[in-house]
Amino acid sequence: MNTENDEPIVRLDDVHLSFGQTEVLKGINLTVHRGNAVSIIGPSGSGKSTILRCINALVTPQRGRITVDGTRVDQLARENERIALRKRVGIVFQQYNLFPHLTVLENIVLAPTRILGVERREAEKLARELLDKVRLSEKAGAYPGQLSGGQQQRVAIARALAMKPELVLFDEVTSALDPETVGEVLWVIRDLIRDGMTSILVTHEMRFAEEISDTVVFTENGRIIDHGSPEQIFHTFDNPRIRQFVGGLAGGRGPMRGEVI
Ligand SMILES: Nc1ncnc2c1ncn2[C@@H]1O[C@H](COP(=O)(O)OP(=O)(O)OP(=O)(O)O)[C@@H](O)[C@H]1O
Ligand SMILES: [Mg+2]
Repeated sequence: MNTENDEPIVRLDDVHLSFGQTEVLKGINLTVHRGNAVSIIGPSGSGKSTILRCINALVTPQRGRITVDGTRVDQLARENERIALRKRVGIVFQQYNLFPHLTVLENIVLAPTRILGVERREAEKLARELLDKVRLSEKAGAYPGQLSGGQQQRVAIARALAMKPELVLFDEVTSALDPETVGEVLWVIRDLIRDGMTSILVTHEMRFAEEISDTVVFTENGRIIDHGSPEQIFHTFDNPRIRQFVGGLAGGRGPMRGEVI
């Protein structure tokens, strides 16, 4: 076995981050191995998005260390270094932010051609493969405004994948969607994870987290207060705080969505 690949691809050690006087992350430790899916769950304001933003160098912690595949992310002083990191670490947000004046295909082709310098023909071939993967082949020529929220989010996922990232961060990517379209997006993410894409997901879809995660971490007030396998987190540990949180979500862990599209 290649020992290099035993190293976690993402590692956070004692990460502290404050916005002004407010300490938002109070010593986060997290490791993610290649090919794994880690879900971050926890109440609003507990620091979930901030953890993802740290990993992507969108914010820099005041203390601690963050390593992504050998790169010390907390020490990237220059913007071009941070941009280089973001080519390797995809992020998909709740708001998909597609370019409204560009077709679906052009939205996906843009970054690989402009940022990575991939040839147009090659970028388009990859874009079509990715559209196939997210089940939107027939929408290549459509504009974002002609698509449902779930379809737009799938385009946003294809756009992130077009950069061939080493890992992808998903920040509540289904939270703004109509319930009917949540399933089709979860389906696509489930496929990606099954294909081995290293993923860190902030999600309120507890059933989904339980099904697809290798590890679930529970954050509260800037700390990870529990972590384990889905079985441990949702069934074995019986942490009253997690039970309360999960029980308080609408419908508890809710129906399993996205099994069939
Ligand atoms: N740029 C910022 N400036 C000041 N405070 C911020 C900033 N970003 C986040 N915060 C604060 O940091 C805390 C953690 O925010 P974060 O967005 O990480 O929480 P979250 O767990 O993702 O919450 P939610 O579930 O609502 O998305 C919150 O109290 C938030 O108000
Ligand atoms: Mg958030």
